[in-house]
Amino acid sequence: MSNVNKKIALITGPTSGIGKITALELAKRGYNLILLARNAQKADALQMEIGDQAETTFVECDLSDLKSVQKAVEKIHANHSRIDLLVNNAGLMMDHEEFSKQDIEMTFAVNHVGHFLLTTGLIDLLKAGKDARIVHVSSGAHQFAKFQIDQLVRPEKFSAWTTYGNSKLANILFSNELAERLQPMGITSNALHPGFVATSFGSGFSSFGSIVMWLARPFAKSPQEGAQTSIYLASSPEVADTTGKYFDDCKPKTPSKDAQSKFLATKLWELSEKLVKDYKPAKA
Ligand SMILES: NC(=O)c1ccc[n+]([C@@H]2O[C@H](COP(=O)([O-])OP(=O)(O)OC[C@H]3O[C@@H](n4cnc5c(N)ncnc54)[C@H](OP(=O)(O)O)[C@@H]3O)[C@@H](O)[C@H]2O)c1
Repeated sequence: MSNVNKKIALITGPTSGIGKITALELAKRGYNLILLARNAQKADALQMEIGDQAETTFVECDLSDLKSVQKAVEKIHANHSRIDLLVNNAGLMMDHEEFSKQDIEMTFAVNHVGHFLLTTGLIDLLKAGKDARIVHVSSGAHQFAKFQIDQLVRPEKFSAWTTYGNSKLANILFSNELAERLQPMGITSNALHPGFVATSFGSGFSSFGSIVMWLARPFAKSPQEGAQTSIYLASSPEVADTTGKYFDDCKPKTPSKDAQSKFLATKLWELSEKLVKDYKPAKA
């Protein structure tokens, strides 16, 4: 297939773990790739590894910084007229409290708010895509969420698992809300749990946290296994018309009660709009 006719996929966090395997597999399956990453050296190495299997464009972006996301969306508009697949994969878990440049708790900033600005800024390009899909890499850890809308930006008390769980619940709520809003445009949106996967995830933890992660590693999936549900939702004809669902091991699964709440999805959308309002990208 000529490069012009190939589908275009944008993937966040393609420089490591699940995202890297997803990017490599999509390249093999005939997609051209927009690699959105914060580390230029790692992105270069990935582009070398993909070689001439696909056309790749690197877009530098730190998802914790809304200014950086705004610039990335503008750059994508300047160079592309459509996107057929968006994989919101980048994510982190923090073992201590930290705030982004815009003063948003870091886990929520990267895992949800940066992706919210990116995704909503790209909807016109997804609309121009062919049967476009959005895939959100969430986690079974959404079950640990204690979701209080007024505690997401500056939590009164920091707990690593609750904060991470809240951000992963936000991924599912955002996916569901997008599914509803984008259905008339023929764009699908689904979320997934990749399983427990041996990646760099949690490598920045304190010594206790790292020891727990290291002990659990023998029970983890390989990144190749962990990427299968992302690849399935991104490319399988079986799910071409499926939207607003949550998947685990390439099968639909019912997420927590909170993850099915329309009320929470609406409140999260309203909060997110407020947080990003000063960073709306100028369209090309
Ligand atoms: N591993 C698991 O067991 C597990 C389980 C459930 C869900 N997940 C989810 O799976 C997704 C992928 O995680 P992984 O396990 O593959 O972890 P990983 O190997 O640590 O990869 C995370 C990716 O996110 C990127 N990233 C982190 N912060 C960023 C920022 N501020 N701006 C831009 N990119 C950023 C990283 O970039 P750098 O390479 O520059 O660090 C990396 O490419 C995450 O959303 C995670 O929540 C993982």
